[in-house]
Amino acid sequence: MRVALGVGGGIAAYKAAELARALQDRGCQVEVILTAAAQQFIQPLTFAALTGRRVITGLFGATPDEVLSSSIEHIRVARESDALVVAPATADLLAKFAHGLADDFLSTLYLAFTGAVVLAPAMNTNMWSHPATRANLEALRGRGHRIVEPGEGALACGMVGPGRLAEPEHIAEIVMAGAGMRRDLEGETVLVTAGPTEEPLDAVRFVSNRSSGKMGYAVAEEALARGAKVILVSGPVSITAPAGVELIRVRTAIEMRDAVLENLGRATMIVKAAAVADYHLANVPAGKIKKTTERLTLELDPTPDILAEAGRRKGDRLLIGFAAETGRLVGEARRKLEAKNCDMIVANAVNQSGAGFGSEENEVTLVLRTGDIIPLPRAPKREVAGRIFDHALQLRLALHAAAR
Ligand code: CTP
Repeated sequence: MRVALGVGGGIAAYKAAELARALQDRGCQVEVILTAAAQQFIQPLTFAALTGRRVITGLFGATPDEVLSSSIEHIRVARESDALVVAPATADLLAKFAHGLADDFLSTLYLAFTGAVVLAPAMNTNMWSHPATRANLEALRGRGHRIVEPGEGALACGMVGPGRLAEPEHIAEIVMAGAGMRRDLEGETVLVTAGPTEEPLDAVRFVSNRSSGKMGYAVAEEALARGAKVILVSGPVSITAPAGVELIRVRTAIEMRDAVLENLGRATMIVKAAAVADYHLANVPAGKIKKTTERLTLELDPTPDILAEAGRRKGDRLLIGFAAETGRLVGEARRKLEAKNCDMIVANAVNQSGAGFGSEENEVTLVLRTGDIIPLPRAPKREVAGRIFDHALQLRLALHAAAR
């Protein structure tokens, strides 16, 4: 799991070094951001030495070149992190987050980040009890952020009461449990295809389909989060690939086939979520087809079936295909599973409203080589991707046991 660790300016900032260590001990990659105030309490060097990474100390770099690259740095960190942990979260940081102020790196990152947020406040008892801080905490809890309550005791300011940063080991445990990330795909290389293909008709026209790529990209994200190396072969889509995948952009079915077959040998699992065109114009005219008053007939030839080709060469790799159906869902999926030598078909009724092409959710039935039929409830595509991998791992165990 990749954790962005934001450190606020409080006396407890030194404990954030222990937290970085505790997170690393649990297998996390930690990238540290120090606010300007935090740098009054602790040096970036401490964190650089602990994490082996450059520590982020401001929104803008010193030279024009650094300014150019650092201006999108908060977006990069937001994209690459699975969790944002802030410890100590000062009263000022809580207020900034609650109100959406973005005047430094950490507050800007907070707004750009969409993953799990864990805040560990530490401050003077009166500041902690102040109605402004209470209201800010309520707002942050309401957004689903996890607040790690401070402990009670003697504070640096001389007061006794709540306000002391929770123990780093405790914060690390909450981060791990809250993010709920399993790393059960570590050591796997998952080859994912996603999106539509575009088949040119002439120099300016093409035929394609309504696939948005969202399902395949969710599969790639899930595999990455669970520790796999991911090769994403993507047709033309308007969504952004998750940071950390090896992205191979293709346009046509032939290009997609070449990319898949070239990389098949490196993969341990192949998930073919792409909506590949079944037909293409074999000889595309170099120029633009001119308009006449005559009827235009184009003769299309079948494209190579990439899934079937992968099925012939798969060896003991796990091969998962998708089947977009408007009719008999399970029957057709079974037929495709046999015909293309797959281990699992994710069957998708594309005529349901609110699920399938272009939508955020999907409702699928898994058809397994073992004969099992598993209907999944409608869920966000990332969750569906999670269930596909859960069943894929179980299926592999079952297939290995049967082969013995
Ligand atoms: N597929 C492929 N190459 C093709 C066509 C499809 O690899 N030329 C893959 C898709 O990526 C998907 C699976 O085959 O994983 C099933 O796609 P689908 O369109 O449902 O099936 P088809 O075999 O094309 O059958 P039909 O369109 O007649 O239902």
